Parts: sequence; structure tokens; C-alpha cells
Amino acid sequence: MSKLAEATNAMARQALENVKPKFLIGLGSGSTVAVFTNALGEFVREKRIEVRVLPSSLQIQVACEAARLQLAEPSLAPYVDLTVDGADQIDKRFNMIKGGGGALFRERILLSAAKRSIILADESKFVEILDMPVPVEVHPFGRGLAEQKLRGIGGKPHLRTQNKGYPFFTENGNIILDVEFGPIEKPPELKSEIRMLPGVIEVGLFDEKIFGFYRARTDGNVDLIRP
Ligand code: 5RP
Repeated sequence: MSKLAEATNAMARQALENVKPKFLIGLGSGSTVAVFTNALGEFVREKRIEVRVLPSSLQIQVACEAARLQLAEPSLAPYVDLTVDGADQIDKRFNMIKGGGGALFRERILLSAAKRSIILADESKFVEILDMPVPVEVHPFGRGLAEQKLRGIGGKPHLRTQNKGYPFFTENGNIILDVEFGPIEKPPELKSEIRMLPGVIEVGLFDEKIFGFYRARTDGNVDLIRP
């Protein structure tokens, strides 16, 4: 196992310090959250505590089932105690790009609702300034207009596709436009601008309040960064 994989496992175990008995836990999506989900399953069995989880995607729901975690109803989202999520990029002011897995719509709800949120990410995700394409979830009927409007505000939209070129559909039945903006100086302002465009369902720019960022390092260590 690489040092980074070891650090990712260690990070997941360290992040369990935020889990308390009876907690309702929102889970984001992606490979890092999957590692945490597995660690959470072992933790609740070892400590003999009860928690319920609300996954943001079928990917993480399957991981929850494999970890034998108790699933909560989506209607309980407003009462989430702790949300644990990953990120694609994190800038020096702790703005994030998320949505690499297309789960941004539900991730937004879980991160907005939680009393406390933590982010788990490896050190390659931490950057000075956000500069990767921004995932924008769009209703398929609004694709053409959304592309035109995104170009109008300086973006270069690309329809996200799967291996053979078929469009990627989110679990909400929508498409994703990955939109190049170059370096993003003011992520919250750009988020608001994109959100106003017709056909846009959700934007992969996040500036929710985060309690702590756990960073897995290639030297095998883990840092906790409190904004
Ligand atoms: C999914 C996300 C994920 O948190 C993000 O893509 C990070 O994934 P990974 O842990 O696999 O790098 O936003 O929509």
C-alpha cells in the first residue's frame, strides 16, 4: 500500500473523532468518503454505538450497505448532525470545487444542513486558487441555453460523457457541463452568477462553513486544518 493510501486510511480513522452515539451522519460521495464509510462501519460495531447515515449517492449507499450501516430517510436531511465529504479542489480561503462524481446536488443539501461538516482530501487537492473546470448540473432541456449563457459569462462548457461518449446523467436525471473558467478569483460570486442561469440545477462551487479539513499527505501523515 502506498504512503498516501495509508494516510487516507489514517485520515478516515482520525475523522471518526467527530462521530457521537445516535448521530445522523450525511455522507458525500467519491473514493475518500468510501474509505471513511468503511471505517465508520467498523467503528460502530467495535464501540457498539448506533448511528444512522444519509448517503448522497447510490455509490455511497452501496458502500453503507456493505459496511452494514443503518440508512436514514432523506426527509431527515434537515437534522443531520455531521456531514463527511470529499472535494476536488480546495483553495486557500477554503472555497471548494466539488462534483467530480456528479453528486453535487445532494452534497450541497447535506453540507448546508449539517450542524458540523468535515472534508477529507489528499494534499493534491489543496491549491492557491481554484482552476479546474466547474461541474454544473443542468436539466437536459436547458442544455443549449445554459451553454450559451455560460459562454456569455466567460466559461467554456463541455458536456460530461462516459467511456463510449454517452452523456453522463446524474441521479436526478440531469446532465453535467464541466465549465472551464481558468483561475477563479471570486468563487462565491461566480457560484451566484451561474446559479441564476436558466436550466441550472446546481453548481460545483462550495463555500459552506466547514469545521475541519483533514489532509492526507504523501509522506503518510495527516493534518487537521481548522479554517
Ligand atoms: C463527488 C464529489 C467528491 O467529493 C469529489 O469528486 C472527490 O472524490 P474523491 O474522494 O474520489 O477524489 O464531489 O461529487
